[in-house]
This record gives sequence, C-alpha cells and structure tokens, in this order.
Amino acid sequence: MGMSVASSAEAAFRSAYDAEPAGLWAAPGRVNLIGEHTDYNDGFVLPFAIPQQTVAAVSAQDVPGWTVTSDLVNETVSFGTTGPGEVRGWAGYVAGIVWALQDAGFAVPPARIALSSDVPLGSGLSSSAALESAVLTALTDLGGFDLPVAARPGLAQRAENVYVGAPTGIMDQSASIRCEQGKALFLDCRSLEVEQIPFDLAAEGLAILIINSNAPHQHVDGEYGARRKSCEEGARILGVPALRDVPVTDLDAALTKIDDEVIRRRVRHIVTEDQRVLDTVELLRAGRPREIGPLLTASHVSMRDDFEITVDQVDVAVEAALAAGAYGARMTGGGFGGCILALIDTDRTEATTAAVEMAYEQRGFTAPTIWPATPAQGAHKV
Ligand code: GLA
Repeated sequence: MGMSVASSAEAAFRSAYDAEPAGLWAAPGRVNLIGEHTDYNDGFVLPFAIPQQTVAAVSAQDVPGWTVTSDLVNETVSFGTTGPGEVRGWAGYVAGIVWALQDAGFAVPPARIALSSDVPLGSGLSSSAALESAVLTALTDLGGFDLPVAARPGLAQRAENVYVGAPTGIMDQSASIRCEQGKALFLDCRSLEVEQIPFDLAAEGLAILIINSNAPHQHVDGEYGARRKSCEEGARILGVPALRDVPVTDLDAALTKIDDEVIRRRVRHIVTEDQRVLDTVELLRAGRPREIGPLLTASHVSMRDDFEITVDQVDVAVEAALAAGAYGARMTGGGFGGCILALIDTDRTEATTAAVEMAYEQRGFTAPTIWPATPAQGAHKV
C-alpha cells in the first residue's frame, strides 16, 4: 500500500512537471485509541498512525513561488507568499504550511509539489494533518531547517488554525509527525511530552478494527467550535487555566459550581476522558491490553451522552461490534460521523465485520467500510 501511494505521487510529479522529484515524503493518517476533544483542553490523547498516508513528491524550483498538484483532484495551483486564508480549498493546507514556516522565520525554498494519498477524506482519520505533515517534512528537509521534530506539530497546527481557520487541537499533527510503528503515542497536550507505548496487538491475538461509518459529516465545523467554547467557559467558571486542571476526584464538587446543564455535561466528558486515557496507558504499560475494552466503551458512552458528538451510524456500529463480542468500541476523531474502532480477538474479524454490516443493512444505512488497523510509522522521507 505504502509504495503504491509513493509511486502515484512520483507519477503525478512527472506528468505535471515533466521532471523527476528530488524526493518523496510520506505522512500518515491516524486513529485515536482514546482521549477525544481533550487536546484543546491541555489534556491527554493516545493516537496511533495508520498505514494510509499522503505522499508529497517535491523539488526545489528556481523561479519564485510554489506550485502544487494532486492526483486526487487533477488540479494545479500556484501561489507566491500569501497571508492567512488567501489560498482556499485543498491547496490552502499547503500554502498554510509555507506561511507558518515563513512566519516562524524560515526562508522556504520555492518548490514544485505533487501529492497523492490513500487516507480516506472527511472520515475523521486526519487526511488534512497527513497532507500538512507530508509537506512540512518535505520543505523542512529541502530547506535544511533546524526545526526539531517536537516543534513541528505546533507549526502545522498554526497552518490549520490561523491559515485555514479551523480551531482544532494539536493531536492530529502530533500523531502524523511523532507516531512510531507498533506504538501508540501518549501525548501530554500541555507539555507536549510524549511516551511511545508498545501496542503490538498481533502478538496478543488482538486486532483493532476500523469501521468507517461512511456517514456524511454534518455541521462539523460549527459544532466543533461550540464544544470548544463550552469547555473554555467551564474552565473559566471553575477558575482553572484548562479543564485538564480538574482532577477526576474533584469532579463532583466542580460540577456543583456550574449552573448550566450543558456545560456540566461537557466538563464531565473532558475530566473523565482524561482519566480514561491515563487508565488505558497504565493497562497497556502493564501488558493487559484486553482490559482497556471497558474504557473504550465508556469513552463512547461519554461522547454520546455528555459531549453529544455521535450520530446514529456510529452508535449502531459500536453496539453491533460489542454484541459480536468486541472487548470495547468507540467513535474515534472529532465526531458527527467518521470512524469507530473496536478491540477484538483477531479470529473474530470476520464475524464482527459481518455483524456490523448486517446492522447497517437492517437500518438502511449506507454500507460501512471495515478494515484492521496496525500502528504505522509517522512522517518520514521515503
Ligand atoms: C479533530 C481535531 C483534533 C481533536 C479531535 C477530537 O480531529 O483535529 O485536534 O480535537 O478532533 O479529539
């Protein structure tokens, strides 16, 4: 799979520019094992990179400016130095990376870029972070910049927050850039410290199944921003810098200080979710991966009832997977559609897949797409 996306990017480069690229840089999508909407609350997340990736074939050019093409859209876009929002659509993510690097003081070399990707778009698997991270890694290498890996996700996040204008946290870019093969990335979104948690499920006879609900994403941007505002309001009422600063042992007392019923529920999700991440990490460190199942499912229930970011399709997939014997299942990503993940015994792959497909058919939903995920390598030169 990896090689074919790289070949496609290389072929797209040749056909657009009639030349060979100087190099190929790959960056993956991600699933989040647990820790949803905790990133912008300075909390904890535990994503891992998936084998699906975006590859950028890139060469420096001698004329000023940047040209980018993608075999997904068959469109070529050229731009010079721009400010936030000036390049729109998919090319805006590329222009955003150039802008963020320039804004951080780097002299970005003029370049030609060709992109290819097999990260499903708009499914909550971070196709945009994969794109940003591939281009950032490529331009950083080509420019020979002294930009430590730990500082790169924040720069890509700025491209998305300020240039593209989406108020997302730092999880997706961190996962695409910092994940390692066979590991889940335990990230403290305040200190940006990471711990690579061994997550070799195959050795345990376990698998994570990704179930793409293929449900159309609805109102994602507005609802995401609204959740973020509610969390900030909760922190303000409680007099803490961020909800990460409310320990789960103080939760009941904290909730009595919040009059607004909706904000109370949003706060409860974040505070309990941070604790579930810590508990999951403990179990994985102790080599007890099956036991994380109930934490995954509790996370889903919290997203469904307290954070209110699920839709029927994802709830049905979770229920069907659990009924088929999954240890745990939850929606992963920003919400309002997208993917769920289920922790299962490997030999239950077919039965679980069939059970979810059947449940979708009975409800008259568009068929889901289901495949097993293995933790892959973060951004790198191919
Ligand atoms: C999206 C955002 C992330 C994070 C998740 C929810 O993927 O890009 O920053 O907030 O939603 O956990």
